[in-house]
Amino acid sequence: MSIPSRLRAKHRIASMAMTALLTATLGLTGCSSMGTHTQPTLYSQLGGEKGISQVVNAFVLNVSHDQRINARFAHVNIPKLESQLTAFLCQETGGPQVYTGPDMYAAHKGMHITNAQWTAFMTDFELTLKQEKVPQLQQAQLLGLLEPMKSEIVGK
Ligand code: HEM
Repeated sequence: MSIPSRLRAKHRIASMAMTALLTATLGLTGCSSMGTHTQPTLYSQLGGEKGISQVVNAFVLNVSHDQRINARFAHVNIPKLESQLTAFLCQETGGPQVYTGPDMYAAHKGMHITNAQWTAFMTDFELTLKQEKVPQLQQAQLLGLLEPMKSEIVGK
């Protein structure tokens, strides 16, 4: 083999290797960017901001009828609470919204929320999820997301 044709052969092998590498790389990124292996967020499973705000509005209505805790919300700006709670839940479930309000400790500091009030609030929330026909799995995921916040909210 003459020197130039050896070089051409080397070049051919190198470019074949590059093509193989590119194909593999594109194949891999293509796979994840097409979402083949990515799970939908809880946010999208709940119907995004529209679905979540619907749950929040129904929840606040349920709380307003609940004698165990409605007095706590008597002087609260309800439309503002609804929009804050919606933004918070959108953010926590993986949505693009950014909740800019106080953290859960700061938001409930000085309220001295009792265990019984916490349970009433969470029971109303669960009832609302059922009323709004949120599937069982997403109900459990959402409640599981809220449960650990108890230590920041109760008795502060
Ligand atoms: C995981 C459970 C809870 C979550 C995620 C939550 C979330 C929130 C959020 C996001 C706000 C708005 C904060 C702001 O913008 O200033 C808020 C306010 C409030 N929360 Fe909660 N909360 C929870 C439990 C409770 C419980 C158990 C009670 C009482 C029974 C309660 C009573 C209130 C009240 C009265 C306000 C209004 C404060 C005000 O505007 O003056 N929350 N909560």
